[in-house]
Order: sequence, then C-alpha cells, then structure tokens
Amino acid sequence: TPQMLGALLAGYLCGSIPFGLILTRMAGLGDVRKIGSGNIGATNVLRTGNKKIAALTLLADALKGTVPVIAAQQLLGLEAALIAGLGAFLGHLYPVWLKFKGGKGVATYLGVLLGLAPVIVPVFAVVWLGMAKLFRYSSLAALTAAVAVPAALYLFGRPEVGSLFVVLSLITILKHHENISRLIAGTEGRIGDKG
Ligand code: G3P
Repeated sequence: TPQMLGALLAGYLCGSIPFGLILTRMAGLGDVRKIGSGNIGATNVLRTGNKKIAALTLLADALKGTVPVIAAQQLLGLEAALIAGLGAFLGHLYPVWLKFKGGKGVATYLGVLLGLAPVIVPVFAVVWLGMAKLFRYSSLAALTAAVAVPAALYLFGRPEVGSLFVVLSLITILKHHENISRLIAGTEGRIGDKG
C-alpha cells in the first residue's frame, strides 16, 4: 500500500544520513573511511581518538532508527513501524548518498529495537557490554548481540518484531564478513586501539 511504501522510504531516508562521516568531518577529523576498518560507524570513529564524536555518532545513528519507527507506529501502526525500521536499517547500510556504501548497521539496529521493543534493549546492552569487556572486540560483541536479540524477542512474546530482527541480524552478520575473517585470523582491532 502507499502508506507502507511511504514508511519504507521515510525510514530509508532517515537511515541513509551518514552521521559518522558528517560528524567526523565537522570535527575536522578527516574522512573516517580512510582509517581503521574504513567503516563509517561509531567503532571506527573512535579510532580517530575522539570519544565524544564517537559517542555522538552512536547516538545519532541509533536515533535515526528510533525516530521513523516511533513516527510510523503513531501514524500507521505496528506493520508500518516494522517496515520503517527495515527501511532505516537498509538506509544506513546502503545510502544512496555514498554510492550505497554505508555501515554495518549495529547502532541503527539498536535504535530500531529501542523504537519497537524497548524492553529488549537491556538484553542487547548486557550482551554487547559483557562481550566487549571480556574480549574488547566491537564486532564480536555486536555479532553476539545479533544472535541474542531475536532469540529474546521470541522468548519475551514479540514474534512479529522477532521476525524483523532475524532478518536484520542476518544482514548485519553478513556485513561483518571482513571482521569475522579478522577475528579468525587474530588480526581484528580491539576497542580503544587507534586506527
Ligand atoms: O558496529 C560495527 C562494529 O561491529 C565493527 O566496526 O569498524 O571494527 O569494522 P569496525
């Protein structure tokens, strides 16, 4: 329906704003795509050494998922909210503005989760922070959270949101293929290492 298409497009347009790139440029830190993993996400922004800009990137990349989801939920209901969340996530990964070369989606995944099922956000947070504390790999922490979140959604009786997150998790895991190779090879950069 036109409403659902509108929700998808609105979500996509929000998600496609590359905050990591914009904020690092505004802060005079250069092009984040030229350092570390080359990714535009908060983890790689942290490799510039600027924690504030990294935290802002995390916040902005998350909220660009939350805002369209909540707007669609209020205006059109749950189905539209799910579609807006999918749009925002895909917008972050495949932004038209960057020739479709976007990020890996972890912050936006968290923001969409906050909009659709805030009670599950602590599951993400505990798993991510716990794994990050244990191993200090942002990618490994995100990959583990991406397994835990869909499972928790089904367990806590949110199967519709759960199905969306099965898809989002699969996509973000695939987008981490270079990280997975580096983790296996033992060459993945640790949180806090400069890039
Ligand atoms: O959120 C992305 C993170 O899981 C990996 O980022 O820059 O280490 O590839 P990066």
